[in-house]
Amino acid sequence: MVILPILLFFGSIWNSFSLQTLYSEARQVRTLQGHEKALPLYQEILAQNPNDVTAATRIAVDLQNAERHNVIGRGGNRFQRLRFIQLLESFGWNCTTIADLVFSSNGNEIQANRAKSSSSPLFLQPLRAGTQPPSPPTCSLSACIQLLLLAVCIPKTICVKLLGNEFVELLEVLGIAFVSDNDENLLVPYVHVFPITVANTIIYVATDLHPNVLSLTTVGNDGAVMYIGPDSVALIDHWSSLGALDIGASDSIIDIGTGSGVQALSLIARSSGKTNVKCVDINKRALRITRLNFDWNNFDEPTLLLGNINQPFGTIFECDNDDDPKPWKELFGNSVTYIISNPPFLPVPINDPTISSRYGWFSSGGLTGEEFLESLVRLASNVLDRTNPSATLAVVSEFMNPHGDFDLHLSSWWSGGGGPAEALLLTNEQAISATTYAQRRADSAEETIEWEKHLKQMSINHISPGLLFLKRKREDATTLVAKENTREDNMLVDVKHRLVPKSSEGSIWTPTNQFARNFTRSSIVEFSRR
Ligand SMILES: C[S@@+](CC[C@H](N)C(=O)[O-])C[C@H]1O[C@@H](n2cnc3c(N)ncnc32)[C@H](O)[C@@H]1O
Ligand SMILES: *[C@@H]1O[C@H](CO)[C@@H](O)[C@H](O)[C@H]1NC(C)=O
Ligand SMILES: *[C@@H]1O[C@H](CO)[C@@H](O)[C@H](O)[C@H]1NC(C)=O
Repeated sequence: MVILPILLFFGSIWNSFSLQTLYSEARQVRTLQGHEKALPLYQEILAQNPNDVTAATRIAVDLQNAERHNVIGRGGNRFQRLRFIQLLESFGWNCTTIADLVFSSNGNEIQANRAKSSSSPLFLQPLRAGTQPPSPPTCSLSACIQLLLLAVCIPKTICVKLLGNEFVELLEVLGIAFVSDNDENLLVPYVHVFPITVANTIIYVATDLHPNVLSLTTVGNDGAVMYIGPDSVALIDHWSSLGALDIGASDSIIDIGTGSGVQALSLIARSSGKTNVKCVDINKRALRITRLNFDWNNFDEPTLLLGNINQPFGTIFECDNDDDPKPWKELFGNSVTYIISNPPFLPVPINDPTISSRYGWFSSGGLTGEEFLESLVRLASNVLDRTNPSATLAVVSEFMNPHGDFDLHLSSWWSGGGGPAEALLLTNEQAISATTYAQRRADSAEETIEWEKHLKQMSINHISPGLLFLKRKREDATTLVAKENTREDNMLVDVKHRLVPKSSEGSIWTPTNQFARNFTRSSIVEFSRR
């Protein structure tokens, strides 16, 4: 008599436990073996949990998802693109309104103020597959937050009511959200759309969903485009804490590894005049999304360059003779004012197929993590304007062994074209040990061991996020002879390494860290005077 309820009790626990296992198995399969293999697992998940309205699950069961992923950056015309932004503006789509709705309404003023002073709404984590969604939106802003930031699907009827028919149609035309395959009354977001506060203006940036949501390094037929991470905004945010960067029409700016174009966009949003901007990426999807984002913000289309920066040649993207590769040096010219970059920087054990399949174009910096950085520095020594003493290579990256031989590496990469250089390296006061780093990067105990072994093999024993600024040494300052240290005598790059003190506001990249910005500012002022 009493056995039945006990069985039922156990039954229900087992049920949710097995569902949880299914979620993690499905995610694992999708990450490592791709969409097709994971499809039946997600179909089973949806059969067991039909209330799952996370975009992560709904995209994974969408049979047309490859075609849908391909619409972004291709769909619609310029008028429709601009109209979409007009409508977003009419909903008050900015960090202040979002912070007020998400935090102030819960009485969390501290977090609200932080968010308002941040460069990007990074504090909103998109929902993983199966996560309990928030309650249905009641205003246009909360609908946009759920769709465009949290990656939650919303009933189409609610969207039409809150956002209007025109907006809902544009979502599909531009490739931002689609009616679900399995439920014609559900809108599934396919990309993020961020409002980013830059100085006193707002820019709008679309990019692929966070890896939490996609759990794949490929989307459709392309590589996934980088989400907006703290690194995506840290460089420009810190650098321009100096004030508006004085960028004019004759300046030439190159963003290498442009991804969504977020760095180039934030830089020119702060500059006054029109500029000559070139955006480089190995991923065609990134260049298409960059073009859309420039359009959205009503900036002139940048020159889009396609290719592998570690190879000698690139091409002009989608031009008539784009099968005609040219040397990067020729594509860039030799009077570049600023090169900005957020390279893929993870030192990935790429020989382990399970680990390497988790890392795509936007994250893997090759075995050493420094492959891309090396190419950047080599190129900079050839193309940075020799007549302009402020021509700078500015990089946001994790740096390997910043307290060790990083300066030696830098000197060996700088080819010396046009004489020696000087660099300012800013990293956290406390670097991360290789052991801790391995634990953070790995997905399991076995992988941690692999990571540790790999870092050791690469002689990487500590790592720190940071910023690097590099420029040619002024002629009158090339008095290398006076150095006491013989090692420094032969250094082509004179590196000034400054440690950003740990503060309650966080570390160097923390988006709201006013302390770190101030520290960067004073370091740069000192650096520019040298
Ligand atoms: C860390 S992401 C940065 C994206 C964007 N700039 C940002 O800050 O969010 C690095 C970018 O470099 C591109 N990339 C990776 N390897 C490359 C290579 N060998 N040549 C050119 N671009 C590459 C990736 O596709 C990706 O868009
Ligand atoms: C954000 O939008 C609100 C509502 O449209 C507007 O009042 C406010 O000025 C905007 N804030 C910024 C920083 O543009
Ligand atoms: C940063 O600098 C500004 C302007 O100089 C100052 O008002 C502010 O108190 C500083 N903040 C921190 C945390 O150091």
